[in-house]
Amino acid sequence: MRRPEHVARVVVVGGAGFIGTHVVERLAAAGWAILVVDDSSHPCGVPLPGSVDLLLAGGGSDEARAAMERFRPAALVHLAAKGGVNRALRDPGGHVADVLSQSVGCFASAAAAGCSSIVIASSGGAVYGDPRVLPASERLRPAPRSAYGAEKLCEETYLATVAQRGVRTMALRYGNVYGPRQDGTGEAGVVAITATRLLEGLAPVVFGDGLQTRDFVYVEDVAEATVAALGSRRSGPVNVGTGRETSVRDIVNGLVQLTGSTAGIEYRAARDGEVRRAALDASRAQRWLGWRAQTKLIDGLARTAAFFAARGPAAATNVSGGTT
Ligand SMILES: NC(=O)c1ccc[n+]([C@@H]2O[C@H](COP(=O)([O-])OP(=O)(O)OC[C@H]3O[C@@H](n4cnc5c(N)ncnc54)[C@H](O)[C@@H]3O)[C@@H](O)[C@H]2O)c1
Repeated sequence: MRRPEHVARVVVVGGAGFIGTHVVERLAAAGWAILVVDDSSHPCGVPLPGSVDLLLAGGGSDEARAAMERFRPAALVHLAAKGGVNRALRDPGGHVADVLSQSVGCFASAAAAGCSSIVIASSGGAVYGDPRVLPASERLRPAPRSAYGAEKLCEETYLATVAQRGVRTMALRYGNVYGPRQDGTGEAGVVAITATRLLEGLAPVVFGDGLQTRDFVYVEDVAEATVAALGSRRSGPVNVGTGRETSVRDIVNGLVQLTGSTAGIEYRAARDGEVRRAALDASRAQRWLGWRAQTKLIDGLARTAAFFAARGPAAATNVSGGTT
């Protein structure tokens, strides 16, 4: 069925992933016409809404550029990534080649296709490094400690060059996003990894003393902020977090209690490149987007644990939806 021309059109790159599927569902419910571009390297396995067009390709590829030219989107949401801090630490050059070049190419394609608004996923947990003042505000000078954080800051810098050509651009500096559909079998995402291990009868693993803190923000709240960003007339970085620090040890203990597990925590050596403490001042998000995190940590953890329990042991994933 042809869509009426007046429907707002958005391209979501990385829309088959953990955060991406939550964002796509919200956009579809709000009536946007959506093209998902995803290279299927790490889909979360949840089918996309039937109304969504899907292109299996890299966001910076020639196919994506041509598809965007045909689709004529009003906006781009860029949520693609290849892993987190540890993958980038092992191969920083490969990380730049895989991620930065694809992202920058994608921003250029979107601008050429006529996008007037570009929203990207940055990382509030990584770009500030170990700031002296918490919660970190966007006014702080970024000082990433990791290759992952440095790459995110490079994406923000390239994006600012696109803004100079009259496109509204916003880099959302997410906290530690957790919730249903996150991959519990990888290296990043302590909530999903712990929930998966507990389900499999394995002891939860903590790297370091577990007293390192993070700003844990629920994925539905993050999706809401991301959609709200499309409606903003502002440009610049915006923190998306709760403003609260929670230790990794408290998260793991909370999940142990929620699941009724009797497993003890297995402590391993601390990992390089990880910050000690993180919390994000979200007052700009409130002013610019009218957004604040709604989900209490205990409720978000309970929903996440219930999701993993209902789904059972980790399943193989693929992407499905209408193809372009
Ligand atoms: N999950 C978090 O806690 C967190 C925190 C801060 C920032 N972020 C950022 O948010 C974004 C989404 O993260 P996520 O947790 O949903 O990751 P994810 O791995 O679940 O999803 C990423 C999606 O992008 C796709 N993809 C990867 N490279 C691509 C490319 N070149 N072109 C097209 N598609 C590509 C993957 O197949 C996957 O579907 C990422 O940029 C990530 O760095 C995530």
